[in-house]
Amino acid sequence: MEYTQKNPLPLPKTGASEAVASSFDTIFDWEYPLDRENLMALYEKGKSMSWNASDLDWSIEVDMEKLVSERIAAGMNDVMDSLLSPPRKLEARESVEMQLNMNAWMLSQFLHGEQGALVATAKIVMSAPLEDAKFYAANQVQDEARHVEVYHRYLTEKLGCSFEVNRHLQALLDDIISDSRWDMTYLGMQIMVEGLALAAFGLIKAQMPDEPLIQDITARIMQDEARHVAFGVLSLEDVYRDGLTSAELREREEFIIEATYLMRDRLLMEQVYERMGWDVDTWVDWAKSTPFMTGFRRMLFSKIVPNLKRLGLLTPRVREEYAKIGLLEFEDYKDSIEEPDVVAPDELLRIISQLRGEAQPAS
Ligand SMILES: [Fe+2]
Ligand SMILES: [Fe+2]
Repeated sequence: MEYTQKNPLPLPKTGASEAVASSFDTIFDWEYPLDRENLMALYEKGKSMSWNASDLDWSIEVDMEKLVSERIAAGMNDVMDSLLSPPRKLEARESVEMQLNMNAWMLSQFLHGEQGALVATAKIVMSAPLEDAKFYAANQVQDEARHVEVYHRYLTEKLGCSFEVNRHLQALLDDIISDSRWDMTYLGMQIMVEGLALAAFGLIKAQMPDEPLIQDITARIMQDEARHVAFGVLSLEDVYRDGLTSAELREREEFIIEATYLMRDRLLMEQVYERMGWDVDTWVDWAKSTPFMTGFRRMLFSKIVPNLKRLGLLTPRVREEYAKIGLLEFEDYKDSIEEPDVVAPDELLRIISQLRGEAQPAS
């Protein structure tokens, strides 16, 4: 594994390393029941579908600036103007820069989320009570290390542009890692963070059909992530089916609601406006109020909501909060057991194709 790091990752304000205190029980399972067929099947699938980062064709030259500039030159700036209605009209050069930064920002947050998944899954190996869950989690640990590897290589060797971890994502990862209750690790990581990532990967794929390396990376990672989310749903279904006390349920509801707001706010991309040298408040207001931007953020919850429903966690309290932010429209979508693979919602694909200049926006 050798590659040239053209641009080391910028560091968050908290510095190059971060210690998060946590205390949880590490569980040995001396009975080794290994009898949950669905989990064991997932474990077998995970092992046989493993791939290596060196399987990818790293000789592909990635010139994102050229790709984006061509789109802008082909009239995409006007489409963006009418669809995104930015606070002011952007020069073609600024549009190119904004898109390059948004793209690098998204991929950088994938990288940081992957590191969170690596650490969280290692914690599951230790804290999950049953051996079959430890087996699968061990398999997932290896997947996540590979995901960190490929995103890091892509960002530092191919893109030449990257961002530090977003503070909302960092806060969420800290919450997940520091929680002592083992099911919260699944709920936070496999259901919320990875559920959102699945929808976001679909977005990246649709956005960059003309960049074969990121297409290959994303397709491979999506396959792995679909298994990871299924692992979370299967594991929690068993636990939650036996019932939670009302106090326990209340804690999980609070956790889901807090995680939802942190994830939604992380997508405001304030780091991009900062780097562009723009007034961050103006642009954050824009991101909060433009129909395109609010629609985009909402759609990233399209896999999370049906999964929560399957787990019995779309309770009146969570529903009330989700109704306020328009997330209940996804409750009848297929969950990760009914449909493990993720298809980006049609509405999202339509917007992306408009942004690529493939069709005129509806007036
Ligand atoms: Fe991952
Ligand atoms: Fe994952």
